[in-house]
Amino acid sequence: MDIRFDGKTIIVTGAASGIGHAIATRLAESGATVVISDIAQEAAEKAAAEIGHGALAKGGDVSKPDDVQALVDFAVAETGGLYGIVNNAGIGGAQAPTGEYPIDSWDQVIGVNLTGVFLGTRAAIAAMKKGGQGGVVLNIASILGSVGIAGSVAYVAAKHGVVGLTKSAALEHAADNIRVNAIGPAFIHTPLIDKHMDQATQDALAGMHAMKRLGQPEEVADLAAYLLSDKASFITGSYHLVDGGYTAQ
Ligand code: NAI
Repeated sequence: MDIRFDGKTIIVTGAASGIGHAIATRLAESGATVVISDIAQEAAEKAAAEIGHGALAKGGDVSKPDDVQALVDFAVAETGGLYGIVNNAGIGGAQAPTGEYPIDSWDQVIGVNLTGVFLGTRAAIAAMKKGGQGGVVLNIASILGSVGIAGSVAYVAAKHGVVGLTKSAALEHAADNIRVNAIGPAFIHTPLIDKHMDQATQDALAGMHAMKRLGQPEEVADLAAYLLSDKASFITGSYHLVDGGYTAQ
């Protein structure tokens, strides 16, 4: 399928690593002007240089309203408009049962994984409405946006919240020609997984997928490119799994 984004600007948050990096690469290769954003500014600059195709870098913390507004303003000022945003930045948080879950980790995970998605969606939609051409918001949730897992209450709550936020924003802005969707990846082999799990845990996790393996970031990037493109022109307010059969069981 020929998917092109020539002349279109798309922001990807958390794009210095993992899934965000793969999505930014896929979009840039398909002609988009990508704005690579990350809390790790130097890593964002490195990623933009590596990815090429005119990719721009902008540091910022998605949990901070001023940083998110500055990111959207930067994209519009530098490129003349905003077609899309991929709200991808996310963290894992503490692992503990709910009765012992550290409150500071709850606040941090909700701040980045839920409030961060809200702030990105809010600022991007405002810019898209101003531009008058419509646009696309794509939120990276997780399979944990529709099922639970023991030990990660904040992460699971945030990702379920992202799915709800996606539906409401889609309903509100369909008339503005702005589509809002979410993706639910299962466990994808990225630095986030390597940081939290040893090899034995990763092997056990792989076995929980019907396909008996972890996903690759590029497999999420292909779905992201489709949902961001005009090929998905009748798709809004929905949540799309890329999960190797994890939640079918
Ligand atoms: P990763 O850790 O490889 O990359 C995340 C990036 O986000 C990093 O570059 C990090 O610096 C950046 N980041 C963290 N906090 C930030 C903040 N406050 N503001 C801006 N940038 C920030 O993680 P990965 O695995 O690529 O995850 C990306 C997204 O996909 C996350 O939302 C994650 O929850 C989601 N996801 C990941 C899955 C996995 O198995 N790896 C499965 C399902 C969803």
